[in-house]
Amino acid sequence: MQIGIIGAGSMGTGIAQLSAFNGHDVVIFDNNPKSIQRSRDSLLKILNRMAAKGKISESDVKAIFGRIHFVESHTSFSDCELIIEAIVEDIEIKQSVFAELEMAISKDCILATNTSSLSVSAIASACDRPERVIGIHFFNPPFLMKLVEIIPALQTANTVVNKSFDWISSMGHLPVKAKDTPGFIVNRIARPFYGEALRILDEGIADAATIDWAMTEIGGFRMGPFTLMDYIGNDVNYTVTESVFKAFFYDPRYKPSFTQQRLALAGYLGRKTGRGYYDYREGAKNPKPEENPELGQYIFERILFMLINEAADALYYNIASREDIDTAMKYGVNYPKGLLKWADEIGIQETVEALDDLYDHYLEERYRCSPLLRQLFFENSKFYDS
Ligand SMILES: NC(=O)c1ccc[n+]([C@@H]2O[C@H](COP(=O)([O-])OP(=O)(O)OC[C@H]3O[C@@H](n4cnc5c(N)ncnc54)[C@H](O)[C@@H]3O)[C@@H](O)[C@H]2O)c1
Repeated sequence: MQIGIIGAGSMGTGIAQLSAFNGHDVVIFDNNPKSIQRSRDSLLKILNRMAAKGKISESDVKAIFGRIHFVESHTSFSDCELIIEAIVEDIEIKQSVFAELEMAISKDCILATNTSSLSVSAIASACDRPERVIGIHFFNPPFLMKLVEIIPALQTANTVVNKSFDWISSMGHLPVKAKDTPGFIVNRIARPFYGEALRILDEGIADAATIDWAMTEIGGFRMGPFTLMDYIGNDVNYTVTESVFKAFFYDPRYKPSFTQQRLALAGYLGRKTGRGYYDYREGAKNPKPEENPELGQYIFERILFMLINEAADALYYNIASREDIDTAMKYGVNYPKGLLKWADEIGIQETVEALDDLYDHYLEERYRCSPLLRQLFFENSKFYDS
């Protein structure tokens, strides 16, 4: 296929690498010449590194790089079968780029957006042929992260959905289908991993090091929430939390934390600024976790039950199928298990009782048990019963 990419930043460059590696011809455009240069340099560096490690040959480097064409205008996209946009996360700019692109491309060309947080239906609404528009959401870095969320807009034609699935599967990646709602699957269900950890910290139940220790050592998660937030950047994570909260019409479950906001405002952004929840400056000493098994189990279970509740609600509202929800969390954020499978293993009754205990204690909407979990409990059934 000939794949078009608009935006040669980190995501566009990664999608170009993946597509060309899998034999597709790539046409890539960016309106900033510096980005083009950076993208070209970084692609060559990555491919040469792969060759140095023996993963590909020198001639593969030439062939893969030779399939990527940096172009100077939208007119070069006329032969593309699918174009994916990975530019700045701004609805008005994306809409105007899509409307402009439509004038330069073939009538059957698919127009995809890699947006993380905007409505795909809103982007499609700017087009003459909105049925050709779809969300194809890669994770960072696109070459290594296998999960890809496919998000049909309200207007998207079925053939467009099928072709998008085929493209992703043909490259050995894992497509899952998500409804066009804020955060799609992963960025919606993962909210309590940060939000509940922050709540536990804010209440003074435990410090960041102890919460991270509980989630990694007891829970088996690859990274604790505070280490991960410092890695993502507290500015980025806070902005996502705030935008999800607004997008859900201020649902209290997604309420941001003042602690995170203050860190972002103070410029304690995490690794990139040397300070965040932890101190990364040379010679800095960070507190050791309180390795109390009972406290650790409480922290791990509280966060896990909140994650399961979120996954159950996503299934209840038909955001995705149970299999896609579990695949998404395992491959999009490397959770040790799918959350719905995990709930089945722990027991639906235990899960409902734990959530009800939290609700009884706080009397906050945030802790209300998903109607689907309660229904399974009454029916004495499981997520994977049938
Ligand atoms: N970075 C991530 O982890 C991640 C993950 C999934 C999805 N996304 C989404 O992917 C998109 C791109 O993110 P990124 O991290 O690669 O951003 P980035 O800032 O690295 O790159 C964006 C590129 O788009 C270019 N650009 C801006 N406006 C343009 C226009 N009108 N025409 C052509 N090029 C234009 C910029 O020059 C820049 O090179 C965003 O929608 C983002 O939400 C990002």
